[in-house]
Amino acid sequence: MTKAWWKEAVVYQVYTRSFQDSDGDGIGDIRGIINRLGYIKELGADVIWLNPIFKSPNVDNGYDISDYQAIHSDFGTMADFDELLRRAHHEGIKIILDLVVNHTSDEHPWFIESRKSRNNEFSDYYIWQNGDNGDAPNDWESRFMGSAWKYESSREQYYLHIYTDKQPDLNWRSKFVRESIFEMMRWWLDKGIDGFRMDVINMIAKPEKFSQNTPRPINLPEVQEYLKEMNNAVLQHYDIMTVGEMMDTEPELAKEYAGFDSNELNMIFQFQHMRLDHDDKYAQWRLHPLKLSKLKSIMSRWQEGLDGKAWNSLYWNNHDQPRVVSRFGSDTEKFRERSAKMLGAVLHYQQGTPYIYQGEELGMTNNSNFYRLGDFRDIQSLNAYHEWVEKNRELTPEQMLEALRRGSRDNARTPMQWDNRPNAGFTTSDIKPWIMVNPNYQAINAEKEIRDGNSVFSFYKQMNRLRRLYPIIVYGDYQLISPEDEEAWIYQRRFEGQTLTLIANWTDREISREIAARDERLLQSNYMDDRGAYLRAYEVKVYLNKN
Ligand code: GLC
Repeated sequence: MTKAWWKEAVVYQVYTRSFQDSDGDGIGDIRGIINRLGYIKELGADVIWLNPIFKSPNVDNGYDISDYQAIHSDFGTMADFDELLRRAHHEGIKIILDLVVNHTSDEHPWFIESRKSRNNEFSDYYIWQNGDNGDAPNDWESRFMGSAWKYESSREQYYLHIYTDKQPDLNWRSKFVRESIFEMMRWWLDKGIDGFRMDVINMIAKPEKFSQNTPRPINLPEVQEYLKEMNNAVLQHYDIMTVGEMMDTEPELAKEYAGFDSNELNMIFQFQHMRLDHDDKYAQWRLHPLKLSKLKSIMSRWQEGLDGKAWNSLYWNNHDQPRVVSRFGSDTEKFRERSAKMLGAVLHYQQGTPYIYQGEELGMTNNSNFYRLGDFRDIQSLNAYHEWVEKNRELTPEQMLEALRRGSRDNARTPMQWDNRPNAGFTTSDIKPWIMVNPNYQAINAEKEIRDGNSVFSFYKQMNRLRRLYPIIVYGDYQLISPEDEEAWIYQRRFEGQTLTLIANWTDREISREIAARDERLLQSNYMDDRGAYLRAYEVKVYLNKN
């Protein structure tokens, strides 16, 4: 398999708003990241992915951009960004940015012009349709609830918004739209950034006609045309990495989007493993217990399906998912550390590029202290409450609050826990941060974790170091052992005559699994001693054979 730096890299995701506040306004900023570069280096990450840092009215925390080439004033200035890029590169750390081009903000100058009339330079920059007998063009729903169409009286037409009505969808059929986007991308790449994470990129293509039963616009064939065009016009001229966020995508299709010879993207974020505990009707607002065999089967399908043909991204967490240790592990005092390490190892020893979401390396948990609706900030959560409690009256306020406590994206967005000072050291003043700090910061914080050689942080640091030393971790193939096992996850990797075996106890009980590990040595584990076939709660062991 061809080697590439982005296959060997470990990516650290920084949600700037919640990472580190340097000027005491309760909001994280770019200077805060500069001050913490040493931490990211110490962890051993190679790339930082920054969630959107651009000018934005902020209805969806920056995923509604009003100027792609300006920094949000909450976060600092372009000079701050330039300094971050320079200092990161100096430390050997690359930076990739979020590319949000399925939609803009309705306050973007393109939309301000577009909504004015049907015949100006920007009229076709968005998806405008006539109504259907005085009603919306079709029954599509916004992903954040309600109709996906909004009427605009100045044009006597509706515009499409897959997300909130302040996030109108761009019209990729227009050559001018594509060229404007490509030009903006070149502008950032010429500045020296190292790639893009592309937001909901498999939704950029829209049908030509919108009737009542037109299916939702995901993975239309034109997505690949646009990506190839983008690759030709922009991506292939730079030594960068690209990862596309792609809901509802199967390995077969991923082989095309992220195929080694496809000339589209380097890898994609798939969602199949994030949906297994979801409810059919209430999605993440009603989580069900996870069946391990299902999770193994899905993730192994991605491992085996892409091997040698395309490249996987590996993630449990990001800014849209509740914290994994609370979700798939155990956030009790007794098992939090062990299960956080086990989850980390099961993920990072698979084939692909691992992504660590800020705080995951500390075993940060969901925030059980979100009491009232007013504690939540996320538009998706607030809209869902409105829909299920106030509009449909299908759930009681208590039921919905409980659902939000477990499933809300805000669980990932509480401030990074740096130390045991007030506000977890997130901000320099005693102002209230923009979102509540998780009250468990006295027990779980970076300062404490760095000092402790047995912490979750130290475990992640060691994984990152081992990844550099053993190419098998990056390039080895993957084979699942005993797929039906509901308690243990065991897999093997093979590369140039070596074998790596990972054995994980997914439960909080002791179990026993006979595995031939005789002439192998233990590379990493979350317990001090090796008791062979006997596996303690959440125990994980990684063996490498000796030759
Ligand atoms: C992606 C982002 C999410 C955002 C949405 C709309 O899914 O990760 O945070 O709300 O796109 O841009």
